[in-house]
Amino acid sequence: MPALAPAAVRIDEQDIRLLPKAEVHVHLEGTFALVDLLRLAKENGVALPGPAATIFDVSTHDAFVRPEITTGGTAHGVGGAGLSGFLRFLDWQCGLVRTPEQAARIAYAFAARQTASGIRYSDVIVNPTHWNAWHGREIELMQALAAGLDEAEQDGLCVTNIAYSLLRTQTAIEAEQAVAALVGHRPSRVVALSIDGDEKASGPTGEKFRTAFRAAEAAGLHRTVHAGESSGPAGVWDALDHLHAERIDHGVRSIEDPVLVQRLVDEGIPLDVCPRSNITLGLYPDWASHPLPLLVEAGVRVTLNTDDPAPLACTLDEDWAVAAGAFGYGRPELVRFAAESIRASFADDDLKRDLLAELSDLEVAT
Ligand code: ADE
Ligand code: ZN
Repeated sequence: MPALAPAAVRIDEQDIRLLPKAEVHVHLEGTFALVDLLRLAKENGVALPGPAATIFDVSTHDAFVRPEITTGGTAHGVGGAGLSGFLRFLDWQCGLVRTPEQAARIAYAFAARQTASGIRYSDVIVNPTHWNAWHGREIELMQALAAGLDEAEQDGLCVTNIAYSLLRTQTAIEAEQAVAALVGHRPSRVVALSIDGDEKASGPTGEKFRTAFRAAEAAGLHRTVHAGESSGPAGVWDALDHLHAERIDHGVRSIEDPVLVQRLVDEGIPLDVCPRSNITLGLYPDWASHPLPLLVEAGVRVTLNTDDPAPLACTLDEDWAVAAGAFGYGRPELVRFAAESIRASFADDDLKRDLLAELSDLEVAT
């Protein structure tokens, strides 16, 4: 009989939840709980696109599936419809949020969900193009969300700031107008400008959004950009060179370019990695093929996130446990991920200092 490999020590999710940590790559649009979705649909008298039991299985809803896109994801339905079908589902879902009270409720529920995973601070990405009842009223949407986040913080839940996201298919003018509105109104809790959406649906965005990003930078807004997900390393170069991105969301395909990896290391640019999202959306076939450990070994700063936890049916604490099992990480590595998440976040310096001190006290005590 062949000898059995020694069982890896499994990290208890309860221990993971107790680690003070931040999540910096999570889309508000990807956090609606089933119960919230059903309530919104009922309040608005809108029919569900499919059975409630499989609502997040985008591949089963004709309205969201483009047959020509089969990215090959296997673990969950999202992969079958590809990223673009998934983004259309987000449009439908966010279209159900029509009043300031509903928006505040979704933001509050987000903070509660984060807290349940032991997340103490979040940079949440919000892309107003998905929220079709708010087109032309994007600043009001930000204010309504901030009201929910304020109430959540007062109730002791996770502290959250907002990364206002452009859709990569928007025009330069739309991007510049969005930034002008942000700079003019300075809605509370909006601390960053972001880009998301399907990299395959548009060419590089560096040239197009350069002016908008420069204006955001001059106004003191942080910058984070989705790149190196469906595009290769070129998207990451573009985001660094033209948009002065401080962090890259995903960025995993940087591993294909050693010169880029060295640049990320030298400049200390964190990659906000979401392995489960990459696997479910078909970028990598399984955890074993994911480049996260290679990036870490190369010395790249890496944060470990969920992206869209509700439709991906995951939580951050579970995903950290799965990553630990898949890559052989023990508590010291997870503590390093926790510290990196706090350092890489756009939280204010006092909160960062407090969370890092709490993390280090916890380590001394254990
Ligand atoms: N918006 C929500 N999830 C996304 C993802 N995984 N990539 C790009 N844009 C997104
Ligand atoms: Zn994302």
